Amino acid sequence: MNFRQICETRRAINFFDPEKEVNEAMIKEMIELAAKAPSSFNLQPWNLILLRDQQEKETLKALAWDQPKVVEAPAVLIVLADKDGWREGHQTVEKNWQEMLNSGAMQEEQREWFLNAAKSLYNWSPEASLAFASKNTGFFAMSLMYAATSLGLDSHPMDGFDHEGVRKAFNIPDNYWVPLLLAIGYKKPGLELHAAKWRKNADEILISFD
Ligand SMILES: Cc1cc2nc3c(=O)[nH]c(=O)nc-3n(C[C@H](O)[C@H](O)[C@H](O)COP(=O)(O)O)c2cc1C
Repeated sequence: MNFRQICETRRAINFFDPEKEVNEAMIKEMIELAAKAPSSFNLQPWNLILLRDQQEKETLKALAWDQPKVVEAPAVLIVLADKDGWREGHQTVEKNWQEMLNSGAMQEEQREWFLNAAKSLYNWSPEASLAFASKNTGFFAMSLMYAATSLGLDSHPMDGFDHEGVRKAFNIPDNYWVPLLLAIGYKKPGLELHAAKWRKNADEILISFD
C-alpha cells in the first residue's frame, strides 16, 4: 500500500469485529512504525496504555460516552502526552541526550544550551507544556492510524471521554494529558461504510492575514 492509498483508505471505523483478535506482534509493529514520527528535539513525549481485558474496556466505555467500539475493538489504546517530557532528569530526555552524545550530534559542553532551549520553549506557561506534549503526541497518534491501515488494521480515534475520569480509573499521573483514545481491530463483517466525508480543499486551507 503506498502513502496515497493509506490516506485514501483510512477511515474512522465505528463497529469492530469482536471475534477477530489483533496479535501482539502486529500491535508492536504498528507502534514501532508510528514511533518513526518526528518530535521536538526528538523527545518523543508519548506513551500508550494498551487495554485488551474486557472488564478494563467496560470501565473505559462507561467513561467514553458508552461508545460500543471501546469494547468491540480487541485492542484499545489510551494515548498519553507527557507534559514533563522536556525536563532535565526525565528518563527519555536523558536517554535522548546520551544518544545525541553517542552519535556526535551534540557535545558535552552543549548540555546547558540544550536544556535551556527546551525550557525556554516549553516552560514559559502551563499551556506551552501542554502544547509541546499534545502536538508531538498528535503526530504519533496520526502515525499510529496510518501504520494500522498499512498493516490491514482498522482504527478509530476518540476524544469523547471524561478526561479526569479516565485519568483516575487508570491511575494516570498528573504529568500526562490524554489527547485521545484509539480503538484498533478489524471492521465488523458486512459493515457498509458511509461515503468518505468532505474535507476542506487546499484553497480553503491556505489563508493569509495581509
Ligand atoms: C482527535 C479525534 C477525536 C475524535 N473523537 C471521536 C469520538 O469520540 N467519537 C466518534 O464517533 N468519532 C470521533 N472522531 C472521529 C471523527 O469524527 C472522524 O475522524 C471524522 O468525522 C472524519 O471521518 P473519517 O476519519 O472516517 O475520515 C474523532 C477524531 C479525532 C481525530
